[in-house]
Amino acid sequence: MSVSYEIHDGIAVLTLANPPVNGLGIATRRGLVESLTQALDDAQVRAIVVSGGERAFSGGADIREFNTPQAEQEPTLPTVIAAFERSSKPVVAAINGLALGGGLELALGTNYRVASSRAQIGLPEVKLGLLPGAGGTQRLPRAVGLEAATNMIVSGTPVAASLLAKTRLFDRVVDGDALEAAIALAREVASSGAKLPKVRDWKIKHENAEGFLGFARTAVTAASVNYPAPLKCLDAIEAAALKPFDQGMQVEREAFALLIQTPESKALRHGFFGERAAGKIADIGADVPLREIRRVGVIGAGTMGGGISMNFLNAGLPVTLLETKQDALDRGLATIRKNYENSAKKGKLTAEQVEQRLALITPTLSYEDLKDADLIVEAVFEEYSVKQAVFTQLDAVAKPGAILASNTSTLDVDRIAAFTARPQDVLGMHFFSPANVMKLLEVVRGKQTAKDVLATVMALAKKIGKTAVVSGVCDGFIGNRMIEQYSRQAGFLLDEGALPQQVDRAMEKFGFAMGPFRMGDLAGNDIGWAIRKRRALEKPDLTYSKTADLICELGRYGQKTGAGWYDYKPGDRNAHPSAEVNALIEKHSADIGLSRRAISDEEIVERLVYALVNEGAHILAEGIAAKASDIDIVYLAGYGFPIWRGGPMFYADSVGLYNVLAAMRRYAKGHEGKAWEPAPLLVQLAEAGQSFNR
Ligand code: 3HC
Ligand code: NAI
Repeated sequence: MSVSYEIHDGIAVLTLANPPVNGLGIATRRGLVESLTQALDDAQVRAIVVSGGERAFSGGADIREFNTPQAEQEPTLPTVIAAFERSSKPVVAAINGLALGGGLELALGTNYRVASSRAQIGLPEVKLGLLPGAGGTQRLPRAVGLEAATNMIVSGTPVAASLLAKTRLFDRVVDGDALEAAIALAREVASSGAKLPKVRDWKIKHENAEGFLGFARTAVTAASVNYPAPLKCLDAIEAAALKPFDQGMQVEREAFALLIQTPESKALRHGFFGERAAGKIADIGADVPLREIRRVGVIGAGTMGGGISMNFLNAGLPVTLLETKQDALDRGLATIRKNYENSAKKGKLTAEQVEQRLALITPTLSYEDLKDADLIVEAVFEEYSVKQAVFTQLDAVAKPGAILASNTSTLDVDRIAAFTARPQDVLGMHFFSPANVMKLLEVVRGKQTAKDVLATVMALAKKIGKTAVVSGVCDGFIGNRMIEQYSRQAGFLLDEGALPQQVDRAMEKFGFAMGPFRMGDLAGNDIGWAIRKRRALEKPDLTYSKTADLICELGRYGQKTGAGWYDYKPGDRNAHPSAEVNALIEKHSADIGLSRRAISDEEIVERLVYALVNEGAHILAEGIAAKASDIDIVYLAGYGFPIWRGGPMFYADSVGLYNVLAAMRRYAKGHEGKAWEPAPLLVQLAEAGQSFNR
């Protein structure tokens, strides 16, 4: 039963019971209509309350049904809501927990609404590339006003019910249980016999609706270059303000039908489910017990150690921060303090919160102080000898069952685990810089990592607000192993005829937050230089454009030296094309005997993105990533891949693997064609007409 039915002294209580979030799939929609009919047919029922659970009234339409026949099956959500709105007996919605999307739209179709003050209220459809499709764009402006509704619908961000307590949306906002208060209200209105209010009949009052909408359109147009949903939201809100209700509903319905078919909405939904799927590991069930993490140790207070510590402090977990020397410890602590104070200046934290967080740190120079830690994350220099020294000492002092994690970005986690007598307790936690800001966490599962260790770290990652993806052990893990191929293609393009600004512009137009050369200047070109020097010893056959080394030889490390692929003016992060670098690139082409040619933006995008895809296919075939969507999530959460394109593997699927393979075979005939040896998995799927994300 997806909706339960009970009678409380003349009041029928219909309770949504479709865990975890009362998604409004076909069974629940049927359940709602059937229980409503039962209540209307029952002479002893005087009023009706619709309610959900403590966690959720409803999280909205069942997203898994979209683009399937069930979504169209009657009763559709608009049909259900219309049935409630037509009810001859008063209907009260009782909202504890979440009322999102279709859930809020259902409540807007009832006569009265009671919410707990902590309930989260929102229309987040725009985040899935959609608009509210069951009357939300028409009824919410009538209930909370044009401006508040526009903000909620166009941003998709939920707000606490307490903030809407003064609007017509809620008849009562209570501190306790909304259900109890809703039953009380249902009794009152059943006895009063008052005319039943309907949101659809309310007028939108605004002194200058057209002026406001014009202003909103300018703002939304700028923000919606990449996908149509925000502007469609505004079209529907405008219809709510300027047209009769039924005509407004028609505008909304047509826009919903159009948006649900767009590639952008499909990609955003892939991202939504991919993020949740990343947390599910095939051989680890819910029965695996978690270890308790009450105290964390962090070793190394440098660039990464400081940011890593902040994640735990922000979640209220005490951190013991260890360094080898007092001055390094003091510098690390000062940086953490400065970061918190900057957040306070921006109004994100109060001065009291800053002090509370700092008070959770215990600085130390002694390993003895780590003996109570449940998890210890190491972020020291990237050298086996240093890691060995650290893990040997940890093995000696850490309590039995403590989880030992390395933040290494390139070293072999299995080799690090072997420095201890407890490899089952060791794994990689690869944070991204700045570690307190970046969402992505690659959790590296070693050969011997115990299941409960992995499960505990995945759960902890969620607690500290990270998007965690499991990677197997390999050089560069998922993200950096793929980016190497992307960077190689960017370099070859320079040799063949492109300039950094053209490559960056093409990738940014495709939707990347930053093109590869601007990114290099931000991260520091010397980091890649050091990696290439190491690679030259390990993989002498691996070719790349020499231009990256040539600019480093000139000391052009990027923003930090005031010059990189671009020129920078003091105190200004804007990148200016560099005559010196461009001349260097052109000379290099001549030196290696290449005559430069005009290169299209399309070729730039294909070569960089398909380079990611090909390496992604190897990573998938080797089991380094368990599923294609995990790779997509790494790129969406950590590498600025455009979210409305769903990640590299999803993007390749949408282009068609046959077409991707054909392009790769074309590029294989060009300069450095060896790089385009297609991954066997890609060939196999392309030939079978299949895709990475099934
Ligand atoms: N439909 C189907 N499943 C949903 C769902 C929905 N609307 N919302 C969440 N779920 C599922 C998740 O996939 C997840 O499933 P899993 O356990 O199998 O992985 C489970 O519910 C729990 O979700 P979370 O892990 O995200 O739990 P949280 O507590 O962190 O967050 C939430 C809960 C805030 C509801 C979050 O899941 C969310 O933002 N959901 C999407 C809400 C949304 O976009 N609603 C609008 C839908 S579109 C719509 O209503 C169209 C209408 O206008 C016609
Ligand atoms: P860093 O040089 O800024 O900091 C390292 C810190 O470790 C220094 O403060 C140093 O004093 C301390 N340290 C060195 N040996 C120590 C020891 N034996 N005991 C305790 N402390 C010791 O380096 P960064 O950038 O923070 O890198 C740390 C680790 O994180 C490396 O493994 C690196 O590969 C990895 N990493 C770095 C990223 C980055 O963007 N900087 C991104 C992801 C991972």
